[in-house]
Amino acid sequence: MEPRRSLEDILRIFLVFLLSSRGVASVELIPYLGVHPGQRYENVSSESQELSLGMCTINCVMQKPIPCYAFNYRETDRSCQLILNRMSRLVDANGYWSYVQWLCLREYPTIENAKVSFEGWNGKYPAPARGIVKFRCEHPKGFSDGALLHTAECAPLNPDSWCISFRKEAVQCEKVHIYPECRLTESGKEYVGKVSVTESGRKCLKWRDYPYGTEDEYPGGPHLNFSSSDPSGTPIINLEFEGWFLNRDSWSHHNYCRNPFWGDRPWCFVSTPNITWEYCNIPMCTDTVPPECKVTQQGGEYMGRKDVTILGYPCLPWRMEEYRYFIIRAFPDFDRIDAHHNFCRNPWMQKFNTPYFTGVNMAPWCFIDVGNRIRPAYCDIPFCNKRVEDEGDRTGVYPECRLSEKGKEYVGSQNETETGKACLSWDLNPYGVPWDFFPRGEKHFTKYFHPRNRLPGDKVGHNHCRNPGVFRERPWCFVSDIDTKWEYCDIPLPRPKFDYSHPALQ
Ligand SMILES: *[C@@H]1O[C@H](CO)[C@@H](O)[C@H](O)[C@H]1NC(C)=O
Ligand SMILES: *[C@@H]1O[C@H](CO)[C@@H](O)[C@H](O)[C@H]1NC(C)=O
Ligand SMILES: *[C@@H]1O[C@H](CO)[C@@H](O)[C@H](O)[C@H]1NC(C)=O
Ligand SMILES: *[C@@H]1O[C@H](CO)[C@@H](O)[C@H](O)[C@H]1NC(C)=O
Repeated sequence: MEPRRSLEDILRIFLVFLLSSRGVASVELIPYLGVHPGQRYENVSSESQELSLGMCTINCVMQKPIPCYAFNYRETDRSCQLILNRMSRLVDANGYWSYVQWLCLREYPTIENAKVSFEGWNGKYPAPARGIVKFRCEHPKGFSDGALLHTAECAPLNPDSWCISFRKEAVQCEKVHIYPECRLTESGKEYVGKVSVTESGRKCLKWRDYPYGTEDEYPGGPHLNFSSSDPSGTPIINLEFEGWFLNRDSWSHHNYCRNPFWGDRPWCFVSTPNITWEYCNIPMCTDTVPPECKVTQQGGEYMGRKDVTILGYPCLPWRMEEYRYFIIRAFPDFDRIDAHHNFCRNPWMQKFNTPYFTGVNMAPWCFIDVGNRIRPAYCDIPFCNKRVEDEGDRTGVYPECRLSEKGKEYVGSQNETETGKACLSWDLNPYGVPWDFFPRGEKHFTKYFHPRNRLPGDKVGHNHCRNPGVFRERPWCFVSDIDTKWEYCDIPLPRPKFDYSHPALQ
């Protein structure tokens, strides 16, 4: 509470007027009012000795290009301190009196998490008398006292004080958490936000660095079997480990808290002698209804309710008799798969330790029934944020960049290899179907470039670099040189700023 101005203060105001008008006739009259008894302004720009309070006022008024906003004056030694800053805090008076114009130099009181707008000023200090700050709470619960709006007004009668409609600390506004920077479920398997510290503040290690190897028994998880190999007998390093991650690519999850394997909620590896992993504190989303959009191209995290494919086929339930032997991994809502669950997802399915559709699941998909044959097909799920999709622009904005190490989601238009060779059209199939498209001869499942299997956003009959198949490291294409047959392409990683914010909820 501001003490009320005493008669003595009012006399002081008068004195300042009188002396300044008598002292220098040409000086425009600017009222400086004694405020904050027992305190003075902290942010002093210059200090001098003046003959009187009036001369200190004139000194303040004469500042170029604009008069100072406030000053402190001490009678005993006639010390005059000018405040040229637009903002200042208060400190103990130390014998000074403080004077200010009809302004607010002190910061307005805030309500944490409330959204702020201004009326009668632009939010820049000093605030003019009658400048108003409006607080709104965007959380569905609103302010804790039930009010829809709170205000702070730079008091017109008592300079440098804020008239507020709330008692500080008595009103709360809960923070709004918007996906993907929060959990939609307890287990948070769908979490793809960017927290990278544990609940005790330890820094997370990168998943792809396998800080504790790949064969350990991770939190509550089964012992994993990593002994896959390609047709030449070369072990496929960590294929199983990767299979536990959304989008099957631990690299693209950096060192962010995630819930692969069977953790109770998102966690990460840490490097302390005794502790190898720790849970992270990821808040629950304010709105836990899964958004009808995806954050990543592969959309492993998508939990919405779309149940038709791009070509309009209805999705079959995931839990079909024929497929009951699949181990369903990286399914963001694996615990909700009942007999009816037929929503587009991008899970990792594994049949007897065999990579099953690694070549095709680059976007959310589902099983469809085509003439009594069950096939996978893509669904068209929009992105949560609008992306710049400039054709042929190598600016590092998706789709002209890789979002994962393997770049399976890449649908850009680069058409030459890293050594500058021209790419051949995929339709030509110049050297037959590559061995790694169907590692176990599962040809019946898909032809990669059949329209039904086309990625959302991809074109038919193109010669752009892609990474279909199972085992190749990044996008590539066929070349006409018969000795080389194929080569990798140099597809950039994204520019650092990549905004995952969710406009639908803002
Ligand atoms: C006021 O002074 C304090 C202490 O010197 C400083 O921390 C603060 O940033 C200053 N504020 C402004 C607005 O200059
Ligand atoms: C892992 O899988 C391979 C091949 O699928 C198998 O030969 C091996 O016995 C398995 N190891 C364990 C520990 O299950
Ligand atoms: C870590 O392990 C060492 C030796 O095993 C033990 O002395 C120490 O207390 C442990 N620290 C913690 C935090 O558990
Ligand atoms: C590659 O793409 C560029 C730009 O789209 C085009 O001008 C060029 O003809 C293409 N080259 C081949 C071999 O398709």
